[in-house]
Amino acid sequence: MPKKPDLLTQATEVLKMNDRGNYTQPAHNLYPHQWLWDSCFIAIGLRHLDVERAKMELLSLLRGQWHNGMVPNIIFRDDPQYHFDRNLWRSWLNPFAPNDISTTGITQPPMFAEAVVQIGKKLEWPERRLWYRMVYPALLSYHQWLYNERDPHKEGLILLVHPWETGLDNTPPWMDEMHEHLMPLWIRLIEKTRLDRVITLFRRDTKSVHADQRFSTIESLVLMDTQRRLRRKRYDINKILDHSLFAIEDLAFNSIFIRANEHLREIAKSLKEELPPELLERMKKTEQAFEDLWDMYSAQYYSRDFVTHKLLKTPSIATLLPLYAGHIDKSRAEKLLRLIENEHSFGPSYPVPSVPLNSFWFQRKLYWQGPTWVNMNWLIIDGLNRYGFKDHAEALRESTLEMVKKSGFYEYFDPLDASPAGVADFSWTAALVIDLLKR
Ligand code: GLC
Repeated sequence: MPKKPDLLTQATEVLKMNDRGNYTQPAHNLYPHQWLWDSCFIAIGLRHLDVERAKMELLSLLRGQWHNGMVPNIIFRDDPQYHFDRNLWRSWLNPFAPNDISTTGITQPPMFAEAVVQIGKKLEWPERRLWYRMVYPALLSYHQWLYNERDPHKEGLILLVHPWETGLDNTPPWMDEMHEHLMPLWIRLIEKTRLDRVITLFRRDTKSVHADQRFSTIESLVLMDTQRRLRRKRYDINKILDHSLFAIEDLAFNSIFIRANEHLREIAKSLKEELPPELLERMKKTEQAFEDLWDMYSAQYYSRDFVTHKLLKTPSIATLLPLYAGHIDKSRAEKLLRLIENEHSFGPSYPVPSVPLNSFWFQRKLYWQGPTWVNMNWLIIDGLNRYGFKDHAEALRESTLEMVKKSGFYEYFDPLDASPAGVADFSWTAALVIDLLKR
């Protein structure tokens, strides 16, 4: 019997399979377009194989950048069969959208700066400088857009208007808000009359993935309805904030943003560019305001409602991302570490689950409500290393690789036994495995 190729060869194969020339699709069938943070994670792996191709992955993302600086979470494939997706969003309704390319009208966690820096590490100085020069204006305008549009009261924290912007689509703090306060009446009626069972038959995603592993039909109806409302307002933030279904200062997003700001400052410094003083001020404010997300009683950070400033005290994988942000003090980082060590919380056999095991929400295979995701592990490993928790970081690196070796390059995994869930041959799983192997 021929020997099974090693993990690195298999991962390389997955990326090759999903390569669409200038970008990599997250997976066949279910995810045919280019996604923002997927491409960033993919570039982080690709840089070990072909640094020019990794650069191209990020430059392709910038094709979709809006003239106001927004980087959309999806750039649609230019193919007649995807007319439906493009038409659902109609990005052309907004005057800032690019003319020649269709995108969504929302963003995703700002991993761009991290990917730029990781590629930079593979280049010697003169090339690195050229690379930074090439992307610096776009990166700067993206961060400025986040402040201008998503921190309208200059409080420091970035607000999101759709669960898809978190990248953790059905994460419990957002779903809690939705079920408790935000469900439109017509969807409540569908729920009451159990009509959702019929609608389920027409879902596209559950043709590729078992329905138990995706969000419920009711939840997807709310997501679609929220998207429709944004489109009706032509993605104009002033109109959106007049009456937004969701307006949440998301913990995961702001953690990633703090780190991205740090990268942006370093990139500017190495280019001898001065960042605008107002931007520097706001970056500082973000780090200070972040501490308002800390809850003394449970000794954890949470997302916050933009309007009421109420903390949304439902733990999720975001709970651990302040480790990646890297600016919190060591005693708080240690408190988060204790949660990772606790087998009833974030420490089962194949960590890190997207919801702690002792949460009411936890379900082993349900998307962002329990399973382990490789991109989250990558961020947490990075954070653990930076705080000097080297053994924990190494243990998590090893269990992550073992999980993928055992089950394949799936989208997510059961944290109790590593069994696979979601779609197969998932690009960021492959790319980040390459990165973890190359450390
Ligand atoms: C799902 C994930 C999101 C990802 C996208 C493409 O929607 O929740 O984070 O970017 O798939 O892989």
